[in-house]
Formats: sequence, C-alpha cells, structure tokens
Amino acid sequence: MCGIVGYIGKRNSINIIFDGLKRLEYRGYDSAGVAVINDENEFNYYKKAGKVKELEKDFNGEILDGNIGIGHTRWATHGEPNDNNAHPHFDMNKHISVVHNGIIENFKTLKKKLTQEGYTFSTDTDTEVLANLIDFHCKTTHDFEKAVRYALTEVEGTYGLAMLCNTEPDKIIIARMGSPLMFGLGKDEIIVSSDAAAIIKHTKNVIYLEDGEMAILKRDGFQIKTINDVDIQREVQKIEYDLEQIEKGGFEHFMLKEICEQPDTIQNTYRGRINFETYDVKLGGLDSVREKLFNAKRIIITACGTAWHAGLVGEYMLEHYCRIPTEVEYASEFRYRNPIINKDDIVIVISQSGETADTRAAMKEAQRLGATVIGIVNAVGSTIAREVDCGTYIHAGPEIGVASTKAFTSQLMSLALITLMIGKHKGTIKEEEFKEIVDELKILPGKMKEIIGKMNEYKFVAEEFKDSLNFLYLGRGMNFPVALEGALKMKEISYIHAEGYPAAEMKHGPIALIDENMPVVFVAPKDDTYDKIVTNIEEIKARKGKIITISTDHDEEIKAYSDYTLSVPKTVDIFAPILNSIPLQFLSYYIASARGNNVDQPRNLAKSVTVE
Ligand code: F6R
Repeated sequence: MCGIVGYIGKRNSINIIFDGLKRLEYRGYDSAGVAVINDENEFNYYKKAGKVKELEKDFNGEILDGNIGIGHTRWATHGEPNDNNAHPHFDMNKHISVVHNGIIENFKTLKKKLTQEGYTFSTDTDTEVLANLIDFHCKTTHDFEKAVRYALTEVEGTYGLAMLCNTEPDKIIIARMGSPLMFGLGKDEIIVSSDAAAIIKHTKNVIYLEDGEMAILKRDGFQIKTINDVDIQREVQKIEYDLEQIEKGGFEHFMLKEICEQPDTIQNTYRGRINFETYDVKLGGLDSVREKLFNAKRIIITACGTAWHAGLVGEYMLEHYCRIPTEVEYASEFRYRNPIINKDDIVIVISQSGETADTRAAMKEAQRLGATVIGIVNAVGSTIAREVDCGTYIHAGPEIGVASTKAFTSQLMSLALITLMIGKHKGTIKEEEFKEIVDELKILPGKMKEIIGKMNEYKFVAEEFKDSLNFLYLGRGMNFPVALEGALKMKEISYIHAEGYPAAEMKHGPIALIDENMPVVFVAPKDDTYDKIVTNIEEIKARKGKIITISTDHDEEIKAYSDYTLSVPKTVDIFAPILNSIPLQFLSYYIASARGNNVDQPRNLAKSVTVE
C-alpha cells in the first residue's frame, strides 16, 4: 500500500530510486513520482499517473541528476490517482518534499489552520498538508529535524514518511507510525524503503524503524530518535533472502512463478519441524506457548482475505483433529465489535505481509484484552511478526504477485503443523492416523509437482470459460474455504464475478442463478463428503449449469457428471485443501492472462494493505 524509496550517497540517486520503485510496485501502482535535490540545492521532480515504467519512459535523466532523492509508488486513498495527486508533495514554497504511505486523519483540521496562516494547496491529498505543516514549523525553528518533530506531534493517523529539505540538502528524514519503513546501510550510502525488496540489490544490512520513531540519514551515518527526541540504539539485521527470489526467473508473471514454486515452498514450511523418524512435530517459535495451546479451551483465528480463508481451513483442522472450539474472525470486524476475549484465549493472526493494518489492529486488540497472540507470518521481520507474543514463520519466501498463492498453501501447512502438534499431544489424533499424515508429507511435494505438470489442461479449460461473466465455486467441509479462495482468485485477477458457497447451501437461494451460461466449479475429492457433493453436482447438472470438478485422480464416476474434470492425486484429508487449491490458482491465472489482464498488478489492488 504505497511504496517509498529514498537514497542518499555518492551515486546518482535516480536509477536506484526507479529500480526500487519497480520492485515495490506490487504495493500500489496508481501513480509514481521522484524528487531529487540537485547541485544548486533545488528540487527537480517528476510525477505521473500510471506505473513506474511510464514515468521512467518520460523522464529526462539529465534534469533529475542528484545524489539525494526520494520516490513513491501510490495506492490512492485521498484524491484520485492523477498526475497532480501523485507523490512527492511539496509545501507551497517548494522547500520541503514528502513521500507518504498511510493516512493523515486530521488533515482537514490542519489544512484549515494552515490556510489561516496563508498557505495554499494545489492537490487533494493529506500529504501536501504535512509538507506545508513542516514548512510552517521550519519558519520558526529554522531546523528541519525539529520542524518534522513538531509537525508529527500534531498529526493523527498513520505514516511511513521520507522527507527532504532543500536548505539542509545533506539528509533524508524518515518517520514511521503504522506504515512499515526500513533503511539499508551500504558503503557511504543509505537506501530507504517500505520493504527489503528495494534494498537487497545494494546491501543485506538493514534497520527497521518502529512506530513513533524517526531517523536522520546522512551519507556518513544515521541517528534514530523517537518523535519526542529520545535517542534510540538499534541493531542491524540481515535480510534473509536473495535477489533471485524477487525476480521472475523466466516466468511470464510472478504469480505463475509463485504457483509453480509451491512444491518447494511447502517443504520450506515444514522443513526442520517434523521428525520423520520419531514422528514428532516441533515448532520452535511456539515453545513458550505449548502448554497454553495444549490446554486451550478456545482458539480465535483472525486475518483478512486469502489469509482469512486459510484461517477457515484452520478452524476445520483444529476442531476436527484437536477438538478445540475455534472461531474465525475478519480482522477488520474483530476490533470494532467489542469481542469477548479473555486471558486464557489463544488468538492466531495470519498474515503474508505481516503489515496488514486491520490484522495488526486485531492483534493489538487481542493483546489489550489479555489473550496470547500467535502469528503465522511470511515476511520475516515485518511489523506483525515483531509484535505478536510468539509465532511461526511460513517461510514461503517473498510473494510479489498481488494474488496470494504460495503463501496460502504455506499458511495451510503451518496450520496443519500446529494441529498435528496439539493433536498428538492431546491424543485426539490416533497414532496410526498421525503416522499416515506424517508419511504423506514426504510425498506431498511430488504430488504438487504432478498437479503443476498439467498446465495444458488448465489452459484448455480457461480458454473455454475466459468470456464468462460469473463463476460459482462450491465445496464442503475443509474444501468449502478452498472454494471461497478459488472465487477470490478469479475475481481479483480476471475481474469476473465469482462467489464461493458451501455446496449444500446452493438450494437455499443461489441455485436460482444456474442456467446454461453459469460455470460451477466443484471441489469434490473422494472423501467423506463425496456422496453428498455428487448429489449437489446432479442438482446443478439438472439445471444445465456447466460443471468443472476438481476431483481425485482415477475417479471415473465424477467424470460422468462433469463437463470438465481437473484431477489431483489422492491425499490425506488434512492436506487436501493444499492440493485442491492449485488447479484453482491456475484456472484464474490462465483466464486472467487470456483476457489480457495484468495478472501481477490487478486493478485497484495492492499487495500489502497498510490502511484501514
Ligand atoms: C488475495 C490477497 C489478499 C490478502 C489480504 C491479507 O490474493 O492477497 O486478500 O490475503 O490482503 O494480506 P496479508 O496476508 O498480507 O495480511
């Protein structure tokens, strides 16, 4: 949700900023802009609606020469995404330049006050108000750092900020409240970024800024302080992944690469956590809460979007295999509905990015109410990962495609590992079944590879349905959330309206939608729900709906009811959602590609939603 890059050093900043912005573009791509301070201590800037590459195509490299600069790629909140509203923003005297990720909630009040002081505004954004507010304080303090500090004490809301002042052209000031920000330490240079993707090419040594902190960055060093001017010492951390992991590696899209990576990423999730000889599960990050988990009377899972779907599967797992009552809450609703939580409750928050504002707010609310909060997070060092009481990383590696794929299957695997750990201890999973599940893990990646090998089948079905206006996805039990996730993937990248339902719910209303133009995707593995779902398929068939089934290999019976079958190898129930999700990911991917959509950057979306 908006990407910020900054550079101060000896090199020309502009190429470093452009490269960084392209790597952060998954965070927002409505508009982009850069500002540098040139040798005459003037701002040169360029900003434009659209993607970074449009900006790069148009800009004049000569004019933007300078070795200190900031850049931004935007996901609009205040003001439509046009050239004018693109960041960086300036005060009316072009003295201060600001890029901002977040929302200044009291910007209207501040704008009124500044207007009375004679300030004028040329954009609709909250960020321009902040630039003017800093300039206002500069007039009395004649000190950039103090002016930033004074301005930020007046601001309510969230921000990740990078700021320049052309009368103090030897520094970038950055500040954070609710929106992620870090900086990388190179040789005689510092690179600022919303996340590690823009830094890793230059250095692996990074410092994360915490909420309520600012940093003054110079070519030869830095200083971290609270916004109230208290010095902070912070350790340098190492970025844990390599540049190749955030590049496409020959694939047409990041999403396709990430779908195909899943046999590896799933292994990374369970590697070192399962002992295949002793049949033990060990999740080091949860050591401190093992007893609490084993004795839990209730678990609440909270998350957003795809991670929420993973949570729904987790609910089935924990209730079925561990007999622990489990509830799943939309994080965005949880905090506002006065939830009944007590200190014996375990709250699990799931987040790929570890930065989702709603999920973080739900986590804080659960902590405030005294619950133990466990994180299932992908992004190492992210805000949620740092703030939960304890947690387990899914280790899926950087996920760049906006539509989440490999993180989803790894979230399912993490939930399965937690389930196995508790179920074994409590004896709610019988020894024989436990062994069968653990043995299955060894061959699961191979089965995922088989599914990935059937790309031509997915392409063929996608071609048949690429012009559909609607899709229904149906499943039962643990595969109902898989249906929801299939529908979400279809909506977000193909822009085709799609809904997921529990298969038996159809007859209570949605069946009225069925006619010969309605494709209905059934997730119908050979499990305990099989006979029931076959009945549901027949109900749709009788109304001439077009049936696509995700079935189990060698299930000949279901073929008779289906127009198209995409089959996956048989597995144990707990891992079925992982396998069944893959053909659905491919289906949405190939339909979106066939429609000519930008799969990795679907319209209106951003990868990491750091605003409420
Ligand atoms: C869908 C998708 C979103 C995210 C949601 C939560 O493909 O990616 O629905 O799942 O915004 O994001 P995280 O997991 O980063 O908290």
